[in-house]
Formats: sequence, structure tokens, C-alpha cells
Amino acid sequence: MAIDETKRKVLGWSLGISALAGTLGGLGLGVKKSFDPLPSVLEAGVVSVDLSALTLNKPTTIQFRGKPIFIIKKDNMNFVNEKRDVKIGDYFYSIMIGSCTHLGCIPAWKQEKFVCACHGGQFDSSGINTFGPPPKPLVIPAFKIQNSNIVLGEVGPEYTKLVNS
Ligand code: FES
Repeated sequence: MAIDETKRKVLGWSLGISALAGTLGGLGLGVKKSFDPLPSVLEAGVVSVDLSALTLNKPTTIQFRGKPIFIIKKDNMNFVNEKRDVKIGDYFYSIMIGSCTHLGCIPAWKQEKFVCACHGGQFDSSGINTFGPPPKPLVIPAFKIQNSNIVLGEVGPEYTKLVNS
């Protein structure tokens, strides 16, 4: 009788420990999954832009992480700002987030500058604020140069140099 009682207690403890381990394991798995990025986030992590495909002296707009990115390939030194533009091969490139630094509207390209329809703010072709309420230049997104591509979403030495100049 005493042995059966002991067996029952051991079995009870075993089941309790198994259940607890299962619960903790499940919680751990839940926590792990909640920190893993969704596949859509992983896919949106970086975008590689082939520079040879860009039109000269006009912005090309790329959607990246839900925002427009303007890239202008320049061959005219009159429009180059070496503190804002990066030289790759024979051309300079302006890369900026197309979100007005006043209240976030998307500026449009008009007569070689960006004009914001919301309150009339203006930016030059390198993204410098030149008129109206925008308090600062368009933001340069993180990028790196890889072969003849700009990779958005990764930090390269060219990006670091521009944002620290
Ligand atoms: S949001 Fe662009 S000028 Fe106000």
C-alpha cells in the first residue's frame, strides 16, 4: 500500500514537471517567434538599384519600406553638391527620402527642383531646402555601393561619409 502511494506521487510529480516544461517551452517558442521578423519584413530589408538603368538628371523614384526614395544620376557639375552627392564611376548620385522635412508630404520634381505642394517648400536636386517652411534637407537613407548598384537599407562608408560631412 505504501509503495502504491509512493508510485502515485512520483507519477504525479513527473506529469507536473512534464506539463511545466511543455508550458515553458511553448512560452519560449512564442517569445522567439515574436522577435523573428516577418517574411515580408525580411524581403523589404534591402533593395538593390541598378545604376545603369537610371535616367540622367531626373529623379527615379523607388518605393522602399513604404517610403519613396529619390535617386538622381547627375552628369552636370552645376547640380552636384559634393557634401550631399556620392560619386560612382563617371556620375554623381543624389539619394534622398522623398518626404518633406516640414510635415511629410511628397515633393514633386518641377523644373530641376523638388516642390512640395502642401506649403510650397522647395529643395534643390541634392535635397537641400531652399525655400519655404522645410527646416532641413531631405534625409539621406542608409545605403551602400555594391559593384554598380546602390543597396538601400545597408550602411556603407559612402553613406557614413555623407551624413558626417
Ligand atoms: S509639408 Fe512640405 S512644405 Fe509643408
